Formats: sequence, structure tokens, C-alpha cells
Amino acid sequence: MAKLAKYIINGGTPLSGTVTISGAKNASLPILAASLLTKEPINLCNVPDLEDISVMFLLLESLGKKVTRNKDQVLIEELGELGFEAPYGIVNRMRASIAVMGPLTARLGKAHISMPGGCNLGPRPIDLHIKGIEALSATCKTEHGYMEVSAGEEGLIGAKMNLSSKNGSSVLATENIMMAATLAKGTTVINGAAKEPEVEDLALLLNNMGAKISGAGTDTITVKGVETLHGAIHHVVADRIETGTFIIAAAMTGGIITIKNCVPQHLEEAIKKFREAGIEINILDDTTIVAKGGSAKVAVDFVTLPHPLFPTDLQSQFLAYLSLAKGKSIVTEMIYPERFMHAAEFNRMGANIIVTNGIAEIIGVEELSSASVMSSDLRGGAALVLAALATKGKSEVLRVYHIDRGYENFETKLQSLGANIIKTF
Ligand code: EPU
Repeated sequence: MAKLAKYIINGGTPLSGTVTISGAKNASLPILAASLLTKEPINLCNVPDLEDISVMFLLLESLGKKVTRNKDQVLIEELGELGFEAPYGIVNRMRASIAVMGPLTARLGKAHISMPGGCNLGPRPIDLHIKGIEALSATCKTEHGYMEVSAGEEGLIGAKMNLSSKNGSSVLATENIMMAATLAKGTTVINGAAKEPEVEDLALLLNNMGAKISGAGTDTITVKGVETLHGAIHHVVADRIETGTFIIAAAMTGGIITIKNCVPQHLEEAIKKFREAGIEINILDDTTIVAKGGSAKVAVDFVTLPHPLFPTDLQSQFLAYLSLAKGKSIVTEMIYPERFMHAAEFNRMGANIIVTNGIAEIIGVEELSSASVMSSDLRGGAALVLAALATKGKSEVLRVYHIDRGYENFETKLQSLGANIIKTF
């Protein structure tokens, strides 16, 4: 078996300096998929260089697009005929591949998407994607592991629908249906839409391509269908989860980090919680935050919920911080109740965390002890790195490929802040 990369970390040093935040993975992925809605070129900048983004490039290329990257800039062109099948070999590497369903059905009248399988965050249904596309008059059937979507003779037809689930709303389902509706006949109203900044960023690009979308960023999105979309230029919004991760890196190691090219406004609720927990956060301007480890780490309770509330994608990192806070914290995971695989690894480092039915009870300890630990998902992996950086001695974080999916140049950025971290096999 090929050897998997791991991090070796000698922790215990406060991280200090300046870090520049990359473009958001979760904005870039649907934005790349949106290129399927037009024949014309799409020019993007601030696209992070990540494993998940490379998988989306592969998918677009397998569908007939040509993708050219030059540093953070990406050009997507269409040279031949577009295909309509998202194959198993790509979808099984990244669930977000399902984002091509809406654009392909809108543009070609059909899409065959390999059904995404299990996921290490627990069950991740796609019923809302299906409900949305069916509301636009498409039919869906599953055969041989593929979902076959067909728009029928008339193409997609605008409709009113509700896309909320018992856990709130789905970012990707909202994005998928918003993209599909841009080329549908008539008007679509999506109630219960996800309000995440990445949905807004996608709508910005689509409107630049000639779509008529209003309300993105609220829970009601209205899309007036148009005949065709054209090429556009777009700058991808900053990654709010990477921003939050570096805030916690400063706080956990007792350092001070200036975080540039971020959007503090996208993290309002998280920043409120971080401050309650003793992290000093100074918002210098619209794009700069200075984060500093406070004198004491204070236990707090928090609940993950859809935007603008506390994001699930920062749960693991904040949980790492709270494992060192004075007192008892309760963390309730409402989006993915099974997203706590990292807790057992923290406990191997001496943390005291008990997880029951989507709720983690954390009794803070004075310090963690260095250990070999294994990441099992992107954010949990990043959280283990933070814990190792805050812990004296040599730790290893295995299965770094999870982290490579979503953090651009993670170890290089951390090294520039003084971290002793190397990637090795
Ligand atoms: N849900 C349904 N039915 C559906 C779809 C979702 O009930 O058809 C529920 C899920 O069970 C879950 C919630 O809705 O409780 C959101 O889940 P979903 O799988 O739809 O999330 P997503 O939109 O696919 C995006 C991010 C995730 C992030 C979630 C929640 C992208 C590419 N991914 O996923 O990012 O955790 O929203 O904010 O935008 C990450 O970056 O580490 C990551 C996992």
C-alpha cells in the first residue's frame, strides 16, 4: 500500500506573524460547476489550490471543459460538446460533485450523476437536491448506482418550493437548484434557502453571467429564468473557515496572528463565542483581524447551526481549544450529529471529552500530551494539528490527505508563523 503523508509537529511554541487567507473552497466548488451553464469562458481568481478543487477540475474536464490554472487564476473554456455524466470514479472522491446536477440539467436537459455514497461526517442525504430539481419539473430515477435526471421536452420550468430540512437547510442543494433555475422557464422561488456567504458569492457570479437572482443570503431566493448565460470574471470570496482556524491557532498556542484578506462579518457569531471563551479578537478593518490568545481559556457552550449561527465546519477546531479551557463546555452538533470522530483522538492526547448522541461534554484539562493521532475528516484533521501545535513535545498527525482537501498550503502558512511542522511519509 502507498505510504500516506503525515505531519510531524513539535508543539508548544506560540504562533505569531501575519497570514493571508485563501479563497473559499466551498464557494469555489459550486462556482466551478456554474461554468457548465455557459458555452463562454469563465475567468476566476482567488481560487485555492486544493485537492477538492483538483477533483472538480477533473470532473469539468471529463464533461468536456478545458481548465487552465495560473496561480490563483482559473480559466474554464468549452472547446467541444458537453457530456452529461458525472462518473463514480470522481463523485466517490468528492461529494460536492453533485453540484453539476443543476447546471447540466438546465443546460442539456439531462444529467447522470453517480450517487454519492457514505461519508465520514455521518449520513448525508440528497433528498433536497432531488426535491428541488423535481419541483422544476425534472424526473429523477436511480439505476446502476446513478441518479438519472431528465428535464423532459419542455426543459426545466420555474416553481415555488421549500428546501429546508429538519436540520435547517442545505448549502449545496440551495446552490444546485439556484443554478438550475437560472435557465428554467419562468420564475423560481426557493423558500428555506441556505443563507451562507458562499451561496451569495455564487449568486454574484451567476448574475454577472446574466442570471436574474435576488435574495441570495436570505432564506428566500427568487430566480427569473433567462434564455442563455454568458462568460464572466469573478473573484472568489475569502474562506471564513480557514480564517476561524487561524484565530484558534493563535488562541491555542498563546500567540498573536494578524489575519489578512478575510471577511470578519462572515464570522460574527463565531467571533462572539471565541471572545466569550477568552480569545482576544481585534477587527482592524473590513479584511483584517488580529487574534491573540487571552490570559485564560474559558469554558463555553455552543451549538452548530446554519449561517449566520456557529458553523459546523469550525466545531472541531473550537472543541480542541475548549479541551484546554477552565471548566465544563457543552457542544451540540446540529448539522452532523456524528461529526465527533476527532474527540476520541483528543482524548488520546489527554483531553476529557464524552460524546453522546451529537452532544460533547468537555471538561477542560491543564495541558494535553503529545501523541500520534489520526485525522478522519478535513476539519477534525485541522483541529488535531492545532492541538499538537499547542502541546509540548513531538506529535504526529496521520492521514494528512484529509487536510489537503481544504486548507491551501496549511503547513507552509503555519511554518511562516513559527510552527515546527513538517509533512513527511
Ligand atoms: N440535508 C438533508 N437533505 C439533503 C441535503 C442535506 O437533510 O438533501 C441536511 C444534512 O443532513 C445536514 C444539512 O442538511 O444536516 C447540511 O448538509 P449537506 O450535506 O447538504 O451540506 P452541504 O451543503 O453538502 C456544505 C459544505 C460543508 C458544510 C455544510 C454545512 C460545501 C461544498 N460543503 O455541505 O463543508 O459542512 O455545507 O455548512 O459547501 C467542509 O468544508 O468541511 C464541509 C463539510
